[in-house]
Amino acid sequence: MAKSVGILAMDIYFPPTCIQQEALEAHDGASKGKYTIGLGQDCMAFCTELEDVISMSFNVVTSLLEKYKIDPSQIGRLEVGSETVIDKSKSIKTFLMQIFEKCGNTDVEGVDSTNACYGGTAALFNCVNWVESNSWDGRYGLVVCTDSAVYAEGPARPTGGAAAIAMLIGPDAPIVFESKLRGSHMAHAYDFYKPNLASEYPVVDGKLSQTCYLMALDSCYKHYCNKYQKLEGKEFSILDGDFFVFHSPYNKLVQKSFARLLYNDFLRNASSVEEAVKEKFSPYSSLSLDESYQNRDLEKVSQLLAKPLYDAKVQPTTLIPKQVGNMYTASLYAAFASLIHNKHKELAGKRVMMFSYGSGLTSTMFSLRMCDSSHPPFSLSDIASVMDVAEKLKSRHEFTPERFVETMKVMEHRYGGKDFVTNKGGVIDLLAPGTYYLKEVDSLYRRFYGKKDADCNGGSLANGH
Ligand code: ACO
Repeated sequence: MAKSVGILAMDIYFPPTCIQQEALEAHDGASKGKYTIGLGQDCMAFCTELEDVISMSFNVVTSLLEKYKIDPSQIGRLEVGSETVIDKSKSIKTFLMQIFEKCGNTDVEGVDSTNACYGGTAALFNCVNWVESNSWDGRYGLVVCTDSAVYAEGPARPTGGAAAIAMLIGPDAPIVFESKLRGSHMAHAYDFYKPNLASEYPVVDGKLSQTCYLMALDSCYKHYCNKYQKLEGKEFSILDGDFFVFHSPYNKLVQKSFARLLYNDFLRNASSVEEAVKEKFSPYSSLSLDESYQNRDLEKVSQLLAKPLYDAKVQPTTLIPKQVGNMYTASLYAAFASLIHNKHKELAGKRVMMFSYGSGLTSTMFSLRMCDSSHPPFSLSDIASVMDVAEKLKSRHEFTPERFVETMKVMEHRYGGKDFVTNKGGVIDLLAPGTYYLKEVDSLYRRFYGKKDADCNGGSLANGH
C-alpha cells in the first residue's frame, strides 16, 4: 500500500492579461473602494480570444512535466476539474491526451469532474483515492483544475478571474492528505448555476451564494471537528490548524469565513476561546442560525476578534486570489499555492486546513500535513521555485477597462461559435514564447491549438492539423 499519499509537485498558469480593480471600479461607476476594500480584490486576470480552459491546461501540464522531468508515460491517471463548459460530451481530459499519446501512453484513467468550483476537489480526491487503492498501478496521478470565471456586466463582474493548476499525486509526498479527516456538506440550492448553454455567464444570486457558502462552511467545520474528536480523542479548534485555506471568490468572503470559524468555536464552547472573546460574543449567543448569517454587528465583531489569527493563519494564502480573482475550481489551490510561495521554508510539520465550496451546492473541509523530508525534486521549496509566482505576477499586461470590456464582447460572440481563426493582431505579442493558445475552431466546431513561436516548424498540437 502506498504511504503518505499526497501532492508531490504543483504548477500554476494564469493569463498574462489583467485589469486593475481600482480602474474597473472607476469605469463601472462603483463607489471608490467598493472592489478593492469592499470585496478585497486587487487585480483580475482574464482570457483573451487566444486562451481558454484547454490552452491554459496545456500550458500548466506541459510546464509541470518538463520542469520536473516527468515522462508522460509515468502518468497513470489524469483527472480534470472544471465548470467552464466547452463541450457537453467531450472532456477537457481528452484534449490533454494529445500530450500523452505522443509518447505512446494511452493507458490513462480519469475524466472531468463538474460541479461549480468543487470539481477540482472531486478530481483531487479521485486521484488520491486511486493511489491509496488496490487498483493503483504504481504510476503518478495528475490533477488539473482549470477555469475562466466571467460574469455579465453588473455587480458580479469584478469577481471574475482565470487560471489552471496542475498537481502531481503520489506516495511519500511533501503534502500529505489526512484522509480520515474530511467533513462534507452537500445540498440543493439555486445560488449560482449555468442553465443557459448559449452563454458562458452564470445566473447568480449573489447574496444567497454568500449565505450558502457560510452555511456550508459551518456544517463542514462541525463534521470535521466531530471526526477529529472521534479519531484523536480530543477537541479541535482553530488553534489546531496552522493555516486555513478557503475557496476564494473574493477576499472579503475569506475574511468573513475565518471569523465565522471563531464564532463556531465560541458556540461549541471550545476550551481554547479566551474569556475576553467569549464576552464580546455573548450578546450573539442566542441568535438562530439564520439570524446569525444576517446579523451585520456579529459579522463586524467576529472579523475584529479574529483579525490577529487571520493575519497569522490566513493572510499568507491570499496573494494569488487577490491578484488573479476567482479561478473557480483552481481558486482553493491557488490560495494554497500562495501559502507555499510565501511560507515554504516554515511549513514542515504544519497542518493546513482546506475548505472547498462549489455552488449548487457541494463542499468539503479537509486537512493536509506538510512534511519536507521527502525525496528531491519533490519538496516544498521546489514547488515554490517551479511555480515562480512573483515573476508570473510581475510580467503581466494591464488592460484599460475599455479594452477589457471590448475583449469580453469578443468572447461573448465567440462562445459556442465555429468557423473562426483567432485574430493574432497584437494580442499574441502579450503571450510569453512557448505558450499554447487557441488557433482555430473549424466548421465542425473542432478546436485546434498551437504553441507560440513554434507554428512554423510543426508546433500545432491538434491531431491531423
Ligand atoms: N468602500 C468600501 N467598501 C464598500 C464600498 C466602498 N466604497 N462600497 C461597498 N462596500 C462594501 C460593502 O459594504 C460590502 O462589504 P460587506 O459585505 O463587508 O458589508 C462589499 O463592499 C460588497 O458590496 P455589496 O453592496 O454587498 O456588493 P454587491 O451586492 O454589489 O456584489 C457580490 C457583491 C454579491 C459578491 C457580487 O459581486 C456577486 O454576486 N459575485 C458573484 C457571486 C460570488 O462570488 N459568490 C461567492 C460564493 S459562490 C462562488 O464562488 C461563485
